[in-house]
Amino acid sequence: MAEAWTLEVRGGVGNLVFNHPDGDVNILTSAHLTSLDRALDGLASRSDLTALLFTSAKPRIFIAGADIREIEGITDPKDAFRKAEEGKAIFAKIEALKFPTVCVINGACLGGGTELALACRYRVASFSPNVKIGLPEVNLGILPGFGGSIRLPRLLGLTAALPLLLAGKIVSAEEALKIGLVDRLFPEQTLVDGAYALAAEAAAGRPVRKPAKKKWMTVFLEDTPPGRALVFSRAKKDVLKRTKGHYPAPVEILKLVSRTWGRRGAEPFRLESEHFARLGATDVSKNLIQVFFLTEKYKKTRWTSAPAVSDGVRKCGVVGAGVMGGGIAQLVSARDIPVRVKDLNDKALSGALKEASSIYRGALKRRKLRPWQVESKMALISTGLTNAGLKTCDVIIEAVIEDLGVKQKVFRELGDLTDPSTVLASNTSSLPVTKMAEACRNPERVVGLHFFNPVDRMPLVEVIRGARSSPEAIERTVLFARRLGKTAILVEDRPGFLVNRLLLPYMNEAAYLLSEGVEPARVDAVAEGFGMPMGPVELADQVGIDVGHKVAHVLEEAFGPRMKVAPILEEARKKGLLGKKSGKGFYVYDGKKKAPNPELRPSKASGVSDEDARKRMLYIMINEAARCLEEKVVDSADTVDIGMMMGAGFPPFRGGLLRWADSVGAAAVVKDLERFQKEVDAARFEPSAYLRDLAARGKSFHS
Ligand SMILES: NC(=O)c1ccc[n+]([C@@H]2O[C@H](COP(=O)([O-])OP(=O)(O)OC[C@H]3O[C@@H](n4cnc5c(N)ncnc54)[C@H](O)[C@@H]3O)[C@@H](O)[C@H]2O)c1
Repeated sequence: MAEAWTLEVRGGVGNLVFNHPDGDVNILTSAHLTSLDRALDGLASRSDLTALLFTSAKPRIFIAGADIREIEGITDPKDAFRKAEEGKAIFAKIEALKFPTVCVINGACLGGGTELALACRYRVASFSPNVKIGLPEVNLGILPGFGGSIRLPRLLGLTAALPLLLAGKIVSAEEALKIGLVDRLFPEQTLVDGAYALAAEAAAGRPVRKPAKKKWMTVFLEDTPPGRALVFSRAKKDVLKRTKGHYPAPVEILKLVSRTWGRRGAEPFRLESEHFARLGATDVSKNLIQVFFLTEKYKKTRWTSAPAVSDGVRKCGVVGAGVMGGGIAQLVSARDIPVRVKDLNDKALSGALKEASSIYRGALKRRKLRPWQVESKMALISTGLTNAGLKTCDVIIEAVIEDLGVKQKVFRELGDLTDPSTVLASNTSSLPVTKMAEACRNPERVVGLHFFNPVDRMPLVEVIRGARSSPEAIERTVLFARRLGKTAILVEDRPGFLVNRLLLPYMNEAAYLLSEGVEPARVDAVAEGFGMPMGPVELADQVGIDVGHKVAHVLEEAFGPRMKVAPILEEARKKGLLGKKSGKGFYVYDGKKKAPNPELRPSKASGVSDEDARKRMLYIMINEAARCLEEKVVDSADTVDIGMMMGAGFPPFRGGLLRWADSVGAAAVVKDLERFQKEVDAARFEPSAYLRDLAARGKSFHS
């Protein structure tokens, strides 16, 4: 097999070039690390070299990281410790080289790639948007184990290093230069020449890097005991707030950094391997790795056999400028695509522009965009009260009120107005896309494109296949969604599609628990304790009781008694308690404080245990997901998992709804459902045939 690392020499400066022999991407497999080790041993006997570069032969990518499949294969903490020790021994050889070493970063440099870069004496990068540097290990439930957790704080200082380690923050070339992660930037074309020149300067003993001057505040925070105590306690508080204690990796990283900060020598590196070993074989890490593979898979999934080259969208239309239409228009403009927005109401149009501008102001504040970029993106949004400007759109997204008659009228008009090649997509949350298409000329170009609220932040869209939607329309919509930065799943045109069909019964069950006298705060705490980002009662108030009630009724009509809307939801709706927007829902809101709403308090107290409350809410979702698979509403358990994580915030550390269900076991879920059938309600908890079948055959959703 060809060596992954080969040495070139130019004017006394060596260049170790990394070229993963059988892939487009450089990753550090064990074999490539061994190849690097051999190459480094070969260098030890050479006296002709004055400096050494590390470069990549792949365009726009330096090293994407270690081989995640190998990390996934770690099942024993001892094995994890050994792997970390082996990797760091190789990187220690780089650090120990007698001559200057320069890491030449021409693109993505992540995980193990960044750890290699940190073992070099200098780092340079190109001025390219492809340059992304970081240590995202924490997102896989582990920590950088090849010395990165020790070298990064040593290089950047404590306060600059922690966000990269604890949140897996990825930085651009410019940011890397600013924080001192790289020493110099060069234009893409002259990067390697620039690196050779810098190596020669360093070899000649000329200073390459200006010594960084620490601000007095940084000196206080990093170099004094009270300052450090403050940094660590604040970081811990932030981590616990963000992870609610469900993710051990950031906590472990923080412990490691607090144990090793300021210490020199080899001991900190051994401690790093020890902490790595504690994380490497955990269920949380395995689940997060599964989620990583799932996310990668859904970036590329082909849903039909239609050839898919491009979405063909040069201009987009949006009809309806409410909460969703406004959000969609902003998102489209953010991707530099012109967007024409139509509403019947002038106020809605100005509201949409205001909302877009406020999202952009946030991006300005976070320094994600420059003022000129915001101006040019805002200029891409145009608005009108008529159909003017829609005829020339390549895709039009309908986001008018949730009323089939109104939507059909819109589709009829748009069908007559536009070319048959224009894709017409509805953002409906619950209405049949097929019925909208029936009202439209060329119904094969009509699909659903279901965004989630808030549009700019929710990563999922459901692409709905109507009875007549063409494969081309679907593929173009999927590609367009990806251009907008979303993960798309294909869902058949059944009531509630996937996410709402599973989420609503969960929220409805929460409402039943309230009716039985469980305190709203207890219901929410049970769900949050499981890892849901927000409890279902608070979520219902956030979404709006009226909105939830409407979708819940669509589902009840479609699926009958098992989806019967909880009486307390009906009562809240009747009393005009609409949730947060009206100041009162299941809770009463007073500024940031909330208290249970006495108007919705049942007289009795509940005897339901927390465990049963949790099972009732979650198992009802699993059961409904099984029905979705049975009816082929989605193609696979993987699609359910990615959909519920990205669309409903199901906790990734559990691996996804059905991966978690598999860890519980179908038979155990059926047994509890049958118990709830007897104790609570026969219709809601009737186990589906699909689930019973899995249980009977001892199978899992993913087997
Ligand atoms: N709000 C959510 O959380 C959410 C989430 C996903 C999907 N949806 C779906 O998105 C759609 C819009 O929801 P929303 O919350 O933005 O509603 P909204 O009430 O905020 O906005 C609807 C807008 O449509 C306009 N409108 C009504 N008839 C029109 C017509 N014939 N032509 C042009 N404009 C017209 C109204 O003036 C209003 O501005 C609905 O189908 C809803 O089910 C909503």
